[in-house]
Amino acid sequence: MNLVRNGWYVAILSDRLSTTPVPQTMLGDPMVLYRTTSGEAVALSDRCPHRFAPLHKGTVKGDHIECPYHGLQFNASGACAFNPHGDHKVPQAARVRHYPTVERDGIVWAWMGDPELAAATPAPDFGEFFGAGRWALVSGDFEINAHYETALDNLLDLSHAPFLHPTTLATADSVNNLRFEMKQQGNTVWAYHYVPDTAVTPQFAAFRDTSRPCDFHAHIRWDPPGTLQLDVGVTDVGGRDEDGQLIHMAHLLTPIDSTRTRYTWLAARNFVTDNAEVSKVMQQQVQMAFTEEDEPMIEAVWQYMGTSDLLSLAPVLLPGDAAGVRARRILAQLRATEAATTAQKTVA
Ligand code: FES
Ligand SMILES: [Fe+2]
Repeated sequence: MNLVRNGWYVAILSDRLSTTPVPQTMLGDPMVLYRTTSGEAVALSDRCPHRFAPLHKGTVKGDHIECPYHGLQFNASGACAFNPHGDHKVPQAARVRHYPTVERDGIVWAWMGDPELAAATPAPDFGEFFGAGRWALVSGDFEINAHYETALDNLLDLSHAPFLHPTTLATADSVNNLRFEMKQQGNTVWAYHYVPDTAVTPQFAAFRDTSRPCDFHAHIRWDPPGTLQLDVGVTDVGGRDEDGQLIHMAHLLTPIDSTRTRYTWLAARNFVTDNAEVSKVMQQQVQMAFTEEDEPMIEAVWQYMGTSDLLSLAPVLLPGDAAGVRARRILAQLRATEAATTAQKTVA
């Protein structure tokens, strides 16, 4: 499977996790997610090692999850902690895979690779990005029938916006003035999109004087494997960012497998922060733009690309492709390193 395993991926948003277990497939692994009664977020393999029943149909009992078929109970580290049968001895092999988790900023992250590497790799931190709770936050998610790198291409090249989102996120003429810049530092890639002296985009139209032009920016940062931060906003022409209307977004891509992707997004705004109706409308608008404009295009592109490597198809490249191509190269390098490490461990 052409996926990077050593990385933090979004498992679920915190407000969706409770003591009611939920199934979630990540990188092809069927998993069960739940919160213990003491509040800990847990991610385990969903497949009971006895007769392979789905644990997500079971019940959380304290810090254990009880299998719905014959009642073995597993603790938060995946070890069987209770056997209701016979002499109550716990068979040594009775354990399920445990995935390390980190919960912060309203997001539960799961580590899908070598557990020994998880502790040395900090999970993404959005604390500062979301204005430490001072900004108004909305979120959503949906699934795309495509490899997640196809969604990554879409996000790292926002020059598609005037064509795909001409009435929602961009204006049709903003492409004329688009300035694009790419930067890489280590394995982090930034794509800066800047449109000076342009019409106010529909997303901000209700909150500004649309008779006056503005400067528009959409700067995106990617960290492998699938974490993106988008800083989008409008200011007076020549004005300072902090005086404008700004939205900080997280776009978080979790491969369900190599043909499907769960796309989770969060958006925090610095304007009309105390208005629930504005939050509701913004949530619907953003979700609509992603699911009705981006998603069908990403899926259509994936249909034509299939499992081929992008560069092996010799695509025509435009300036806006620089960041997406760079990200794909980094991911290919990470996969190669993982494959080499796994091969070494197997030989040893
Ligand atoms: S299948 Fe889980 S206890 Fe039997
Ligand atoms: Fe888009």
